[in-house]
Amino acid sequence: MDVPGIDNDRIPAHIAVVMDGNGRWAQRRGLKRTEGHAAGEEALMDTVDGALDLGARWLTVYAFSTENWRRPVDEVRFLMGFNESLLMRRRDELDAKDVRIRFIGRRDWRVPRRLLRRIDESVEQTRRNRTLTLTIAFNYGGRAEIVDAVRRIVDEGIPAAKIDERTIAKRLYAPDMPEPELLVRTSGEYRLSNYLMWEAAYSELVFTDVLWPDFRREHLFEAVREYQARDRRFGGLSDE
Ligand code: IPE
Ligand code: IPE
Ligand code: MG
Repeated sequence: MDVPGIDNDRIPAHIAVVMDGNGRWAQRRGLKRTEGHAAGEEALMDTVDGALDLGARWLTVYAFSTENWRRPVDEVRFLMGFNESLLMRRRDELDAKDVRIRFIGRRDWRVPRRLLRRIDESVEQTRRNRTLTLTIAFNYGGRAEIVDAVRRIVDEGIPAAKIDERTIAKRLYAPDMPEPELLVRTSGEYRLSNYLMWEAAYSELVFTDVLWPDFRREHLFEAVREYQARDRRFGGLSDE
């Protein structure tokens, strides 16, 4: 679909998003932090629709970091249950839109088995879909991902002299996923917080003050316009 001000020939194939600011959104309304997380569901669904409108092929969202276990137990428990119920509520709808659901992150003992089951079911149900791959980063940490890749390399007995960037890239959680051209973070925080540390090496970073529950596809379009105005040099010199 044509979006005003956006060049269809330069749509980022992969957009990564740090969905941040749920707690502040709730606090400003005198609500509990968890109500901010709940309100983020609409933002996520509209962002998926926006990515579909644009024709982006990959959308990766940060839902729970390896550091988020530091939060109060009640909030962590809420987030586990919320993500489980969100998958149950939304997977048929996403499936109908030809969205392939995938996950990156550590499946450790702290993630409730019920949530893991819901994840596996959603991935299985949608695995043949091709229009958009929605990757949910859950119990995800960029450093943990690199550590896990290194462990596999050692387990496989690969000699040091044979290790290059491809050796590592092939052992990340989603080796077939292209690197994000665009990474968006909401809520006015200017950091990566351990998101896609390897993959985002050359991503264009766009920051917005909008809090995640208020984020809608028009904000995504605005981020893509900003992306399209950038000069990506990859260490070289620009074409112009
Ligand atoms: C992002 O919103 C959601 C998660 C980290 C799970 P926050 O909960 O971090 O909201 P703020 O940053 O405290 O406002
Ligand atoms: C990053 O947000 C993680 C997610 C959005 C899931 P945080 O709110 O956890 O990051 P910090 O603590 O502000 O760096
Ligand atoms: Mg935050």
